[in-house]
Amino acid sequence: MKRVVILASGSGSNAENIFSYFKGSDTVEVVAVLTNKKTAKVLDRCEKLGIPAYFFNREAFSGPSGFVEIMKSFRPDLIVLAGFLWKISSSLINAFPNKIINIHPALLPKYGGKGMYGSKVHEAVKENSEAETGITIHYVNENYDEGAIIFQAKTAINTSDTADDIAQKVHQLEYEHFPKVIEKLLT
Ligand code: GAR
Repeated sequence: MKRVVILASGSGSNAENIFSYFKGSDTVEVVAVLTNKKTAKVLDRCEKLGIPAYFFNREAFSGPSGFVEIMKSFRPDLIVLAGFLWKISSSLINAFPNKIINIHPALLPKYGGKGMYGSKVHEAVKENSEAETGITIHYVNENYDEGAIIFQAKTAINTSDTADDIAQKVHQLEYEHFPKVIEKLLT
């Protein structure tokens, strides 16, 4: 059984979708969801679904206490960032080479980088009157949103679409493709 650990900072709708996709699978299992935010909605979702969930603070994540060791204790085959907003340290990247992936709600290299997350991305896309947007699933390296791209999918934007409409379209792409990409990487 391949083991997936999800890191999430917010609502956790992708975490829930990934968990549901693999529920009952003989090959892939979501073994834990880790969050840096005590009030994140993802914790409510995990409780409801019975997914083991853990909170960690900045010191546990970046301090000398060894987040790498914490992560190793879950024995992950893949670490999935699903709306996780802290920068991943070099030590974690080196401990799990090609085993950490992120989803970004735009067509990288456009609309990536520090501070570009969630609704901020969709507002910028709307502001620039883009005709299309999409999702990017990529390996994580030391720089925000710059790791090697694994998969992209696009969706068209109508001139009447609001940033919220764009967000919804992007979320649909995420729900459709993210679990399948994870499955492909692991099986
Ligand atoms: C997702 O749209 C994800 O692509 C985005 O945050 C959202 C989390 O939604 N990630 C980033 O912006 C990372 N830079 P969720 O908590 O409902 O899964």
